[in-house]
Amino acid sequence: MLITRRAAAEGLILFGAVAFTLYMTLCAHAQDLQPLRNAMATKFNRVVQAFVQSVALFALWSGDGAIRGAEAQYLLGLGTGDITGPVVETNMMGYASLAQTDTGLHMRQRSRAFIVADASNPSSRILFINSDIAMGDTGIRRSIVSAVSAKYPGLYDNSNIALVGTHQHSGVGGYLENLLPQLTALGYVKETADAIVQGTVLAVERAHSSLAPGKLSLGNTTVLNANINRSPSAYLANPAAERAQYQYDQDKDMTLLRFDDANGNSRGFLNFFAVHGTSLYENNTLVSTDNKGMAAYLYESMVEPNSMPGNATFVAGFVQSNVGDTSPNTLGAFCESPGKPWDGQPCEVEHSTCGNKTQDCHGRGPGFQISCFESNRIIGNAQFEGAKTIMNGGRVPVSGPVKSVHAYMNMSFRSFNLPDGTKAQTCPPAMGYSFAGGTTDGPGAFDFIQGDNSSHPQNPFWEIVKNAVTSPAPPEQVACQQPKPILLNTGYTHTPYEWQPNTVDVQMLRVGQFVMLIMPGELTTMSGRRMRNALRNALIAQKVIGNDAYVVIAGPANTYGHYVATKEEYGVQRYEGASTLFGQYTLDAYIDRYTQLVPYLAPTATGTPSSDAAPAEQTSKAMSLRTGVVLDNTPIGKKFGQISTDVSKTPYKAGQKVAASFVGACPRNNLRLEGTFMTVDQQINGGWKTVRTDSHDSTIFEWKRDNLVLGYSTSTLSWTIEDGTPAGTYRLTYYGDWKNGLGGKITAFTSSSSSFTVA
Ligand SMILES: *[C@@H]1O[C@H](CO)[C@@H](O)[C@H](O)[C@H]1NC(C)=O
Ligand SMILES: *[C@@H]1O[C@H](CO)[C@@H](O)[C@H](O)[C@H]1NC(C)=O
Ligand SMILES: *[C@@H]1O[C@H](CO)[C@@H](O)[C@H](O)[C@H]1NC(C)=O
Ligand SMILES: *[C@@H]1O[C@H](CO)[C@@H](O)[C@H](O)[C@H]1NC(C)=O
Ligand SMILES: *[C@@H]1O[C@H](CO)[C@@H](O)[C@H](O)[C@H]1NC(C)=O
Ligand SMILES: *[C@@H]1O[C@H](CO)[C@@H](O)[C@H](O)[C@H]1NC(C)=O
Repeated sequence: MLITRRAAAEGLILFGAVAFTLYMTLCAHAQDLQPLRNAMATKFNRVVQAFVQSVALFALWSGDGAIRGAEAQYLLGLGTGDITGPVVETNMMGYASLAQTDTGLHMRQRSRAFIVADASNPSSRILFINSDIAMGDTGIRRSIVSAVSAKYPGLYDNSNIALVGTHQHSGVGGYLENLLPQLTALGYVKETADAIVQGTVLAVERAHSSLAPGKLSLGNTTVLNANINRSPSAYLANPAAERAQYQYDQDKDMTLLRFDDANGNSRGFLNFFAVHGTSLYENNTLVSTDNKGMAAYLYESMVEPNSMPGNATFVAGFVQSNVGDTSPNTLGAFCESPGKPWDGQPCEVEHSTCGNKTQDCHGRGPGFQISCFESNRIIGNAQFEGAKTIMNGGRVPVSGPVKSVHAYMNMSFRSFNLPDGTKAQTCPPAMGYSFAGGTTDGPGAFDFIQGDNSSHPQNPFWEIVKNAVTSPAPPEQVACQQPKPILLNTGYTHTPYEWQPNTVDVQMLRVGQFVMLIMPGELTTMSGRRMRNALRNALIAQKVIGNDAYVVIAGPANTYGHYVATKEEYGVQRYEGASTLFGQYTLDAYIDRYTQLVPYLAPTATGTPSSDAAPAEQTSKAMSLRTGVVLDNTPIGKKFGQISTDVSKTPYKAGQKVAASFVGACPRNNLRLEGTFMTVDQQINGGWKTVRTDSHDSTIFEWKRDNLVLGYSTSTLSWTIEDGTPAGTYRLTYYGDWKNGLGGKITAFTSSSSSFTVA
């Protein structure tokens, strides 16, 4: 039911008039009801008072901008940009699998930018970038900060820009600045990095040019069916008394910050929920966005069904939170060991093994019997439904100042005091043996397993290999990293350039009572709870915010500092503990440092905190073994875009897949950012109208090099026809770009399949 403000105000006036008439009637005709009348009069005076207040409030609410300005405390801007890198011939990011090279596109990756400025002091502002990438990165962030601060001097800077990755594992890789995550991509992939920077800057420009007065509100709900703990045996190492404070071994709470215009119409939201972006498995080779991007697509296309993906003005930001030990593979982990007695059995719990090896142990998503794409849709949908509940349900208004604070934190042998006064220190980065064991979302290789905290000599082969790969760990590093057995001593390995960051970004953004802890890594469930509780307590104790202080975690953001397990989980050394780079006190050091920065979020705070040196730039030293596109060519007698396999003449029905193949060219020649490699067109009044692009979840664009030397290739377009698709005539259209081997000129071409009917 829609009640406009005017109608509501009119209703109130009418209600007042009727009540007053009734009262007068009582007064005139009921002399003998004096006591009742007196009581009524008192009551009525209160009603009249409330009535007058309500009318005044409605007048303010519906009044002109001058009055409304007081309510619309913020200036809000939202925008989206396409960041999809090369969708073929490129290693994908997340599983660190050399074999996972992309072969096409399922859904485009986007950056979504959210700006909040204080309307009374617009230079106080924050820029939150939620990006469909596996994790934030120092090099990418440096480029974005430099481009955006140059374009809008004095408004956006290193302190108020946060780059948060959705932690999806189906995106294009090779963009990170440090060496370790580049290894499987055969080095740095400039095409990927450039696409992320270009699309993100566009998202920011769009957000900035959409700045308008608005309001924020905050709510939460519980989402039970979208995550499980993938390292429950490590979680159990946390103190029983602490665990007893929580119902689940995962955070099931979803928080949402709603952005409204000055009239109360929603423009978008930031949604915080912890679940790994590993619905799509390691054997998927189509570039996509995993469950967070799916949730955003579902929300944006619900609000604006006629907009193409990425082109809606409503911006749905599904942000990653304390993701460390979460999994979207909610059915649990099972052995895929054909022919073995344990095939189909749950994996061994402590080490996630099948027959003592990790390779066969795989987490299952809710749609596993159909496909991982179905699981992805289900987990995306669960988050979409949660967001809808909060958008349509009870929320509290957000009010108060807009603040940000940022510092660099050098983690190498950093000493600090624990809350009980004892001294602790963090260490230069190192990865434990169990890191190579992988997880049930993406198992490791060789004979590595999770939960290996033993100090006895490891496999002698690896004892030799590890010292050939990274520098041997000196005794102080071995002691510092205890009880982690070190596999890769990355903190001491500086050639050809830094393998992992020594220095991370520490950052907090505040809007009113809402504080976002921007974290340079993946906190486990319990780490996230400790972090949030400590910071909320500090904010309240230092009277920076009142008891309504509301704290969330966003990450992995800015710099990829891998995992953050609690000290107790670190002791168990499952994957998350083994990947906690800076030793067992990593979390405590973050709590200590973030807490020190709390005063900078006070309403009247000025200045910047002391900071360690920024990490040295690595990108200029980046190596790449990647080759460019040499040439495209067509078999003799064929031309680019010529149909190889056409659609069927038999009418199609909903649920069926329609496909066509064309003589193709390498899609790396033109990423077609903000564009598309394919469309589904519907015939309307003799013309063709685009109804789907390559970014709809129902379409897939694939490309295959048939002959590398001669440059032949094939592009295949497909569309799984959705329920409710209008009957009619359709076609598939391919948008390609071919490269001339002589001179390198790139030429665009377009070609359509025959038309087909949907009955
Ligand atoms: C959800 O919101 C309510 C009301 O603001 C608050 O009391 C509660 O702590 C919130 N839940 C979480 C998990 O933050
Ligand atoms: C992909 O991996 C999953 C998990 O191991 C497996 O169940 C599925 O069959 C694999 N799909 C293909 C096409 O190999
Ligand atoms: C995106 O929206 C703008 C206007 O809002 C429109 O001009 C443009 O054609 C749209 N692009 C696509 C691909 O639909
Ligand atoms: C796994 O290891 C245990 C202990 O070393 C051993 O008893 C068992 O036989 C092994 N199982 C397999 C299938 O190798
Ligand atoms: C970080 O701290 C370590 C130990 O104090 C020091 O050796 C190193 O130079 C510092 N790194 C940077 C980038 O400042
Ligand atoms: C190693 O892990 C086991 C559980 O898997 C635990 O009982 C033991 O205390 C851990 N060792 C250390 C040194 O933390």
